[in-house]
Amino acid sequence: MSGTLITGISELVTCDPSLGEGPLGIIRDAEILIQDGKIAAIGPVTTLGSAGFSDDFSRQEVGGRAVIPGFVDSHTHLLFAGDRAAEFTARLAGEPYTAGGIHTTVAATRAASDAELRAQAARLVTEAQAQGTTTLEIKTGYGLDVDSEARLARLAREVTPEVTFLGAHVIPAAYAGDPDAYVRLVCGPMLAACAPHCRWIDVFSEEGAFNVEQAREILRRGQEAGLGLRMHAAQLGPSAAVQLAVELGAASVDHCTFLTDADVAALADSDTVATLLPGAEFSTRQPYPNARRLLDAGVTVALATDCNPGTSYTTSMPFCLALAVRELGFTPAEALLAATVGGARALRRSDIGKLSPGKQADYAILDAPSWEYLFYRPGVPLVKGKTP
Ligand code: NIG
Ligand code: FE
Repeated sequence: MSGTLITGISELVTCDPSLGEGPLGIIRDAEILIQDGKIAAIGPVTTLGSAGFSDDFSRQEVGGRAVIPGFVDSHTHLLFAGDRAAEFTARLAGEPYTAGGIHTTVAATRAASDAELRAQAARLVTEAQAQGTTTLEIKTGYGLDVDSEARLARLAREVTPEVTFLGAHVIPAAYAGDPDAYVRLVCGPMLAACAPHCRWIDVFSEEGAFNVEQAREILRRGQEAGLGLRMHAAQLGPSAAVQLAVELGAASVDHCTFLTDADVAALADSDTVATLLPGAEFSTRQPYPNARRLLDAGVTVALATDCNPGTSYTTSMPFCLALAVRELGFTPAEALLAATVGGARALRRSDIGKLSPGKQADYAILDAPSWEYLFYRPGVPLVKGKTP
């Protein structure tokens, strides 16, 4: 029987309160036994050692470091070409963000070869992994015609099973005079071409993008095609799209920057996760969402990067965690849970997000004795991947 015993863990964050101390389920002086990419056993050295595991398997000594579950980045748009650095700089000089910048990236993405797109995605995925991300979702949405969207869905599927069809990202210039014709294209041939590569469908419902009725139609058609639902809503202002997402049983409604009390109550009474994307507020200079209001109401909250060239060009979950505790009202433990268990819930995955027997062995070693260093030492590359 093959397997690896990871040993010398000063502090193991399981994110499963039934396994250890507090809401993070912390086990001190711990070991993890991994077999076939899954966690076979977990516990204090005394427990696993006395079961005789240490002799039967190869050992990996992590030297008194902390181990956390890998981050689940449940919202990215990392398949694109080109950049929008000039737009970012103009915004920092006072220009507002509008959904229109997406067209710039669509033009660059359509012009890029498959090889260029693959290389760009691989670079960003490697960057994300180096910062502790072990699962990521990728959206289409920089194609906006049938062939280009299908190409992005196919290329994204090479990287992750969590692919989201976002043909409804923005209305292309060619359809400016007849947005409903574009909605018909999205719901018809584009959905048919993309659905085989996708698990999810998403709509950017916002002023300048898709209205709530268009969003309803697109999500309904996606659901009929067997896709799970996600929604970008309330990024730039309050929107009825939040409650639409809840009504339709979406796995997640993302951004949630401008919520009404009724939105918060609807989310709290549902299985829909509120995914907060503070990298977007950082980069667009919008107000940050109030996570405290959601957490206190009992809403399940996730944190994700929203990695995209327009509003959040970061792959760093630790950066988003730093913003979450400093600007959104999370405690450090709540932020870590939102970036792991919350992300898993947002992707309706029960095999990731926690370190417990039977789950995938998706973990990150920190070059630090305790998990709190993730917050205590902002901007420092503490994540060591799977080897110390
Ligand atoms: O999540 N909101 C829509 N999509 C992205 C922005 C994409 C872009 O500006 O290129 C977001 O912020
Ligand atoms: Fe987004």
